[in-house]
Amino acid sequence: MSRNTHLVLGATGKTGRRIAARLRLRGTPVRAASRSSRARFDWSDPGTWDAVLQDVVVAYVVPPPVPGPVHQFVVRAEAAGVRRLVLLSGRGADGWGDSAFGLEMLSAEEAVRGSSLEWTVLRASNFAQNFDEDAFHAPLIAGELALPAGAVPEPFIDVEDVADAAVAVLTERRRHAGRVYELSGPRALTFAEAVELISRTSGRPLTYRQITRVEYVSTLVEQGLSEREADQIAEMFVLMGSGLIAETTDDLATVLGRTPRTFEEYVVRAAAAGAWHER
Ligand SMILES: NC(=O)c1ccc[n+]([C@@H]2O[C@H](COP(=O)([O-])OP(=O)(O)OC[C@H]3O[C@@H](n4cnc5c(N)ncnc54)[C@H](OP(=O)(O)O)[C@@H]3O)[C@@H](O)[C@H]2O)c1
Repeated sequence: MSRNTHLVLGATGKTGRRIAARLRLRGTPVRAASRSSRARFDWSDPGTWDAVLQDVVVAYVVPPPVPGPVHQFVVRAEAAGVRRLVLLSGRGADGWGDSAFGLEMLSAEEAVRGSSLEWTVLRASNFAQNFDEDAFHAPLIAGELALPAGAVPEPFIDVEDVADAAVAVLTERRRHAGRVYELSGPRALTFAEAVELISRTSGRPLTYRQITRVEYVSTLVEQGLSEREADQIAEMFVLMGSGLIAETTDDLATVLGRTPRTFEEYVVRAAAAGAWHER
């Protein structure tokens, strides 16, 4: 493979697979890597790292599920001759204080921002696609989403926009070096409003129900998560409730020169693809 290889970690995930597809369409040499990809990469097995870093000029990094490994990964990337790193992180990460939420993202930011390489951090709001490709999907298929989300709205971002921004940052050298972009959708809406839009557009009677943090944690534990994992996820709703990440930002327009896609555009597209059909 060419020395201009663009490494995409988390390549089977929501952002990685969209980024890899966009890069391939442009004719960019791509190495799409994850535990289940042909280019096997496992954060918990450093023996898989050097092979995927060969001939890589720039890497898109989706943080590992636990804090720590990115520090060692950055050392390996530097040694392999990688020039640039683009890290996916979460909105407002430097304001999370001593919250237990997102420790893996904070650790990854510290590693990437402390590296000798050219780096860029993309801090994204909650993804719209969480409603059809991730944790909120199964409850909606069952007819009800119950969360401790409260009335503070969230500026959900369309993952297609995250992928567009990531590709711009991966392919435009220097312009984005040392920048931290806070990426949001164009409008903040509550979870109740989001579910109402999905219900209306999909033609199914879907409801949002407000629950307490304790109820949410015990639901997650019933689903098989450990108490600690469940607590960490619940912390995200505490952060959201504080209003810290509720504002929209202009950073997507700074990167792409256009406004972000709306939540309504996302809902129409996903509903038309049958995302919330009764199974
Ligand atoms: N969802 C949101 O609203 C949101 C918002 C902002 C930031 N984030 C952050 O975005 C990240 C997730 O990105 P995403 O949504 O694009 O991915 P995703 O859909 O959650 O998929 C995870 C990806 O990582 C790979 N992976 C999982 N464990 C791995 C391991 N131990 N070693 C190597 N690869 C592994 C998976 O592939 P394999 O199973 O094949 O390994 C998959 O490609 C998380 O750090 C999350 O905190 C999420």
